[in-house]
Amino acid sequence: MSTSVEELDESARRGFGRLGRTVVHEGELLRHPVYTRFLHWTVAIFFFLALLSGLAIYSPWLFHWLTPLFGGGAMTRLLHPWFGLAFVIVYCFQFLNWLALMRWTEGDRKWVRRLREYIAGESSTEPEYVGFFNGGQKIQFWEIIFGAGLLLITGLFMWFAELFGRFLVAIGYVLHDIAALIMLFGIWIHIYLSTIAQPGTLQSMTRGVVTRSWAWTHHPAWYRDTTGRDPGKDYNEAVDRESRRRTESGTPRAQPKPDESA
Ligand code: HEM
Repeated sequence: MSTSVEELDESARRGFGRLGRTVVHEGELLRHPVYTRFLHWTVAIFFFLALLSGLAIYSPWLFHWLTPLFGGGAMTRLLHPWFGLAFVIVYCFQFLNWLALMRWTEGDRKWVRRLREYIAGESSTEPEYVGFFNGGQKIQFWEIIFGAGLLLITGLFMWFAELFGRFLVAIGYVLHDIAALIMLFGIWIHIYLSTIAQPGTLQSMTRGVVTRSWAWTHHPAWYRDTTGRDPGKDYNEAVDRESRRRTESGTPRAQPKPDESA
């Protein structure tokens, strides 16, 4: 039985599906439909607008060069809370859209326990229990929910200072800056992982698709669920194919990259 939230998301996905196209070529899988991509990039735009205008207000002696982008100092102050509010509102839709996929599971607990291995890049594929999102992505998602909530509440204290009084406004300043710095740190990790660290990931948010080899490498359980195939077997076959290709072409044997062999 589907919930009203799922029905709302489903009809939004259908509606947005008509506004844009996702072309899935041979050897690719649909990862993020148009609706998800639209929400993600709208969130990202408002996040960076709020961040840049916030930095100009937070530290004018370092970031005063940013204020002309927003039409001067006074305009930057005026626009910043609206950018922040827009970021939180759009992220609420993303929250509903991804909620079911972001539920914490036993597999995520296991994933967090082998975080050191993940950072060291010791294994060429993720463990077979990693589904649509891994534990780290889920932590990031919830960290943004927590951070956005804190930014909103403390932002409201400062926006309507006369309503909340000096004490709450003073606390608001400190917590607002801490939340923004934590999110700033997290977002650079997110951008690094989605681009340089894991080639093939960015196109999931641009074209909406990933290669099959990307899926069995990073999200094997999702690969199994979507294709009905065994990710470990397909990985091994791809490695064998790559070794044979190298032997036939006389290229020295090297550890083949499964991600490039689809
Ligand atoms: C230029 C900046 C950004 C890039 C290149 C980027 C890229 C991506 C990509 C490729 C994915 C899909 C990952 C996958 O399917 O496994 C993703 C997911 C996601 N993005 Fe972004 N993103 C950016 C900015 C942001 C911002 C500003 C936010 C929110 C403040 C955000 C929040 C998320 C969340 C919560 C997810 C799902 C969980 C995850 O993959 O970590 N992103 N992003």
